[in-house]
Amino acid sequence: MVTSSTPKSPMRRSKPFDQLGLLGLFALSSVVFLLVLCFLYVDYGAASRRRTSAAVLGGFGEEEVGGGGGECDLFDGEWVWDESYPLYESRDCAFLDEGFRCLENGRPDAFYTKWKWKPRRCALPRFDAKDMLEKLRNRRLVFVGDSIGRNQWESLLCMLSSVIPDKSSIYEVNGSPITKHNGFLVFKFRDYNCTVEYYRSPFLVVQGRPPAGLPANIKTTLRLDVMDWMSSRWIDADVLIFNTGHWWNYEKTIRGGCYFQEGEELKVEMSVETAFRRSIETLFDWVNKEVDTNRTHVIFRTYAPVHFRGGDWKTGGNCHSETLPELGPPTLSLKEWALFLNPFRNITNHRAGKQVADLDILNVTQMSARRRDGHSSLYYLGGSGPAPLHRQDCSHWCLPGVPDVWNELLYALFLRSQRRRESAVHSNTTALITSRE
Ligand SMILES: *[C@@H]1O[C@H](CO)[C@@H](O)[C@H](O)[C@H]1NC(C)=O
Ligand SMILES: *[C@@H]1O[C@H](CO)[C@@H](O)[C@H](O)[C@H]1NC(C)=O
Ligand SMILES: *[C@@H]1O[C@H](CO)[C@@H](O)[C@H](O)[C@H]1NC(C)=O
Ligand SMILES: *[C@@H]1O[C@H](CO)[C@@H](O)[C@H](O)[C@H]1NC(C)=O
Ligand SMILES: *[C@@H]1O[C@H](CO)[C@@H](O)[C@H](O)[C@H]1NC(C)=O
Repeated sequence: MVTSSTPKSPMRRSKPFDQLGLLGLFALSSVVFLLVLCFLYVDYGAASRRRTSAAVLGGFGEEEVGGGGGECDLFDGEWVWDESYPLYESRDCAFLDEGFRCLENGRPDAFYTKWKWKPRRCALPRFDAKDMLEKLRNRRLVFVGDSIGRNQWESLLCMLSSVIPDKSSIYEVNGSPITKHNGFLVFKFRDYNCTVEYYRSPFLVVQGRPPAGLPANIKTTLRLDVMDWMSSRWIDADVLIFNTGHWWNYEKTIRGGCYFQEGEELKVEMSVETAFRRSIETLFDWVNKEVDTNRTHVIFRTYAPVHFRGGDWKTGGNCHSETLPELGPPTLSLKEWALFLNPFRNITNHRAGKQVADLDILNVTQMSARRRDGHSSLYYLGGSGPAPLHRQDCSHWCLPGVPDVWNELLYALFLRSQRRRESAVHSNTTALITSRE
C-alpha cells in the first residue's frame, strides 16, 4: 500500500534535511493514523450494525427520509476508512494527466486513497460503472468548468473505463491527446455509443474583447450576462455538470486586465463577489430559458476548497505533510467560501418547492474541506521527482482520490434523477413520486 520512491536523477533529489523532515512527519502521522484507525473500527462497527437493517432491506432505493420530508442529504456525513478503495489504480488508467498521478510521481503515503464517504442518514450506492454506462447508452455526459472540473472528468473516465476490457474502444472523437488543452475533449465509449466530454470554461460566461475605445489596461472583459459561446455545444447534453470558482478572484481577473461588463457597460467598480453572483444568475437564467430540463439533467458542483498552509500557490503555501482527513463531525466553518456558496443558498432540493432553477447541487464543499490530505502537493511532476517545496499544488487532487467520491455522489444524483423520470413516465401523478421519496 505504501510505496517509497527513489528519485531517478540525483540532481533532482531534494535536500537531505527535507527528506528527513518528510520521513519524520510521515512516521509520526502513521502512528497517529493507526490510533485513529483503531478508534474508527470500534465506532464504525457499532454504527454499521445500527444501519444494517436499512441497508440490507432497501439499499439506496429505500433510503431513510430526512427530517423535512425531502430527500436524504447525501452531503451530510463523514469520511470512513474502507480497505476496498481505491476504485482503480492510476497506472491502469490512460486518461489521467500526469499532474494527478501522485503515487506514480512519488507520493510516499496512500492513505488518502482509502476513504469512503458515509452519508449520515442514507446509504450511498456502490458505484456501478456498468450500470452507469448502460444508463448512458446513446447519451452524452458533459463537464463544463475549470481545471478542477477536468480533475473530476478524468476521474470519471477512469471509473467508467475500469470495466471496459478493450481500452482501445474508448477514444477521443477528434483524436486529440488528453494532455492537450483544446478547449474541449470528447471521449467516446464505443460499445455504449456514449460520450463523456469536458469543456474548459473557467468563468462559464463569455470572456472576450472589451468594447472599443477603452484604456489599454483593459485587455478583456467578462460579459456577466452572456453564457460562454460554447454553450450551444452543451445545451442538449443528457447530463450536464458545471463548476466554477477558482478563477473568480482579483488575481485572475482585474489584476490581469480582465474587467466586468454587463450589456455594453463596463463595470469598473464591481466587486468579484458581485460579478460571480451575476454570472451564476446568468447560468440559472440560461438553464430556465434555454435548457430542456425534461431531457437534460443539470448539476452544479460546488466549490472545492484549496488547502495552502502558510501562504498561497505562489508564496510557498504547502500541504505536503497532510496525510489524514479531518475525521468525525465537521468543525470547519464554510465562511471562507461564502462567496462561492451564497448564490446557491436558495437551491435546496427538488422537492423543496421554490427553486431558482431546475438543477441539482453536487455539494462537495464541506466534505472536501475536510480532505486537506487529498491534494497533489509535491507530486504533480512525472519523471523528475517531487516539486520544490515552495511550488506546491494544493488545489488539484490526486487520482485516485477525492474526485472519485464526488463522482460516486454524482452517480447517486444520476440514479435519483433516473428514478424521478421513470416515475414521471409510469405515473404522472406527483403524489406517487412524493410518497416514494
Ligand atoms: C449514438 O448516440 C447519439 C447521441 O449521442 C445518437 O444521436 C445516435 O443515434 C446513436 N447511434 C446509434 C447507432 O444508436
Ligand atoms: C416537461 O415535462 C412536463 C411534464 O410532462 C411538461 O408539462 C413540460 O411542458 C415539459 N417541458 C418541456 C420544455 O418540454
Ligand atoms: C433567497 O430567498 C430569500 C427569500 O425568498 C430571498 O430573500 C433571498 O434574497 C434569496 N437569496 C439569494 C442569495 O438569492
Ligand atoms: C452544502 O452543504 C453544507 C454543509 O452540509 C450546507 O451548510 C450548505 O447549505 C449546503 N449548500 C447547498 C447549496 O445545498
Ligand atoms: C396521465 O396519464 C394518463 C394515461 O396514461 C392520461 O390519461 C392523463 O391525461 C395523464 N395526466 C396528465 C396530468 O398528464
